[in-house]
Amino acid sequence: MAKSLILVAFFCSFLCDYSVLSTQVSHDGRAITIDGQRRVLFSGSIHYPRSTPEMWPDLMQKAKDGGLDAIETYVFWNAHEPQRGQYNFEGNLDLIRFIKEIQNAGLYAILRIGPYVCAEWNYGGLPAWLRQIPGLQMRTNNRPFEDEMQKFVTLIVDMIKRESLLAPQGGPIIITQIENEYGNVQGPYGNAGKEYIKWCAKLAESYQIGVPWIMCQQPDAPQPMINTCNGFYCDRFTPNNSTSPKLWTENWTGWFKAWDKPDPHRLAEDLAFSVARFFQSSGTLQNYYMYHGGTNFGRSTGGPYITTTYDYDAPLDEYGNIRQPKWGHLKNLHAVIKKMEKALTYGNAETTELENGLSVTKFFGIGVVPGCFLANKNKTDEATLDFEGTKYFLPAWSVSILPDCKQEVYNTAKVNAQTSIMVKKPNQAEAEPTSLIWSWKPEDLSKAVRGLEPDFTTNTLRDQILASVDASDYLWYITSVNVSQDQQMSLQVNTAGHILHAFVNGDLIGSEYAPNGKFSFVFEKDVILNQEINIIALLSATVGLKNYGPYYELMPAGIVGGPVKLIGNYNDTIDLSFSTWSYKVGLEGEKQQVYLDNSNSTWNKGGIFPKKVPFTWYKTTFQAPLGSDPVVVDLLGLGKGTAWVNGQSIGRYWPSYLTWSGGCSPCDYRGPFQSNSCQTGCGEPAQRWYHVPRSFLKAGEPNTLVLFEEAGGDPSQVNFQTVIVGIVCADVVEGNILILSCQGPQKISALQVASFGDPQGTCGSFQIGTCNVDSAYGIVRQACVGQATCSILVDEKTFGSSECSYLSSRRLAVQATCA
Ligand code: GAL
Repeated sequence: MAKSLILVAFFCSFLCDYSVLSTQVSHDGRAITIDGQRRVLFSGSIHYPRSTPEMWPDLMQKAKDGGLDAIETYVFWNAHEPQRGQYNFEGNLDLIRFIKEIQNAGLYAILRIGPYVCAEWNYGGLPAWLRQIPGLQMRTNNRPFEDEMQKFVTLIVDMIKRESLLAPQGGPIIITQIENEYGNVQGPYGNAGKEYIKWCAKLAESYQIGVPWIMCQQPDAPQPMINTCNGFYCDRFTPNNSTSPKLWTENWTGWFKAWDKPDPHRLAEDLAFSVARFFQSSGTLQNYYMYHGGTNFGRSTGGPYITTTYDYDAPLDEYGNIRQPKWGHLKNLHAVIKKMEKALTYGNAETTELENGLSVTKFFGIGVVPGCFLANKNKTDEATLDFEGTKYFLPAWSVSILPDCKQEVYNTAKVNAQTSIMVKKPNQAEAEPTSLIWSWKPEDLSKAVRGLEPDFTTNTLRDQILASVDASDYLWYITSVNVSQDQQMSLQVNTAGHILHAFVNGDLIGSEYAPNGKFSFVFEKDVILNQEINIIALLSATVGLKNYGPYYELMPAGIVGGPVKLIGNYNDTIDLSFSTWSYKVGLEGEKQQVYLDNSNSTWNKGGIFPKKVPFTWYKTTFQAPLGSDPVVVDLLGLGKGTAWVNGQSIGRYWPSYLTWSGGCSPCDYRGPFQSNSCQTGCGEPAQRWYHVPRSFLKAGEPNTLVLFEEAGGDPSQVNFQTVIVGIVCADVVEGNILILSCQGPQKISALQVASFGDPQGTCGSFQIGTCNVDSAYGIVRQACVGQATCSILVDEKTFGSSECSYLSSRRLAVQATCA
């Protein structure tokens, strides 16, 4: 006994002594300091619920390989506390495991606790049950709200302290955030808003967690809170206090996608430009929002009209693949900026603004190697800049970085990283039939359309959020009306959205959804009413709740207040708005958990297969695709609904929603980027492919896919595919290294183009220019074909000095196939 106590004491002297493992984090007016040293830090947002624990180590390794120092995440209150006092930290909500994986990867963590988070997340992360608490007003100086917020924030802080996850305890967390962008919406809250922010700061400080707290977009953030910047560019931002460093918490790497919008993209050149401009203007920490966007699994994750994919055009794609050239172009940028870390954090900055948008910034000082930025923020004109006796070519909207002020090592518009074109491959699992075999059953509407067994009854038309407390997307509003004779009338329903299905006497008479992101609309349809009693059952469906704006939580959903009317041929109107309304929350199939495919539910196999029949459940089995490549299911042909694989939600689907057909013009990286500057997929299904994480699948045994089809669809084309790299290209300037990689077990199988000289065009359409070194093709084929990765130094030793030497700068363009 005594011996084991001595042993415990011995180990404890190592493990329990925080000073051994502890990291001291602080800041001054210049930078975050780690163990007393000012640091340049790159960070990237990865939201744990938008991927799976099985994906986390790989995502973090790819973030680390991409040159990041830290991973940032929000904490998602309404996911963790779906019902008041009932907590969930399991599976992809295992926040502690996520932070530990960050540490395992050797990265720091930035924890944005919020607990309001925005994030295109359902209701901005705030639980809908808060609305049931008497007198509660959200995000303002309101005791009931502050009490609930404090309870949740304390729970999280206690959890991370208990697990020793803060840097001074030896953990990875170096920064924590309270609230989120309150400054953007604060005006309408007046004095109460100001008081609330002071309260937030006091609460944060009271935890004494020993790392800096930040408040993003909060110009009146009280000390010692650091106010930080969010946006596409943050070079013009200045913190509100000279003791706060210039930090950028959200550099939007692309944008989120909504059901009515085409796919947004932000080109690597512009993203790199924004980062370089930030460091040129004395910024010292920058976080990519998002580094991996991921997937809105389940109905609770996506905000209003947000698609299931939250790809974000981020450096890692929805499935976790490296997105090239974005990932590689940023990796190269991180490396060159890191070389200047001392100059950027300890040097003096001297900026000279020149004509036509040109500027030069030199960081210098005693004991530091000087570092320079040469910037051209002109949107159209390239320039040649004479700097300290050397001429530098600057493409429009670009920054050159000279880590020793002599040699250009990086230009934001010159992309040396490879481009990868991803392709989808059919499921090659053995014994997989060419098309899936389906069984089906109708959603049991019998009780709802007759108003039987209601959850409650009132004589008002209630807000859907209040009535259902967001327990389901679906809420039934049911009433009855007596008429003296059979007659035709028009049913008119004013709804705050998002979707309405109207039934009269058990028949579906029509459906409508909110178009173009405007949620309120009026449904109108002629109906034949029978003499005496008629039952009107209205099924309202939401597609994620609003997440942003002052008082956003009060924006209603559903048929709140109506009016709901029956209008006769002679303008005789029956107003049903104050009739007796029965409510039913959710679908019968949801209650029975049909998607779990339990043996109690019976499915039809024979008979007439229902195609385009709304309110139908479909089920099929399939084999998991072989290998480890990411899996997607193509849901083209379906209408709108929800999908589950082996009982786990893979999100809402809506491939019948075609996006706006305008707005997809060719993309140009030059000029200030906006969320709609560069889009693809106009007039196409908003989302066709849905991610099925590998961990949801069972190898070698049947897997189940269940669909709830709300609008009517045809599942006969549904099929599983894998996502792999199809084509790789690179266009590398002489003096740099060409690196081509199939990003996985595949190999470079064929070389289409290899041209050294002045090749023209882009990936997929490269052509030989005015000069081409004939041996280039053979050299590249020799080095690359048959390899998973190859690298070639693009210089005269490899390609010869004389040929094409009249060109001012020679380039090697390569296009190859991976298989
Ligand atoms: C910011 C917000 C983020 C996210 C982003 C857009 O305003 O802080 O949470 O919503 O916009 O993707």
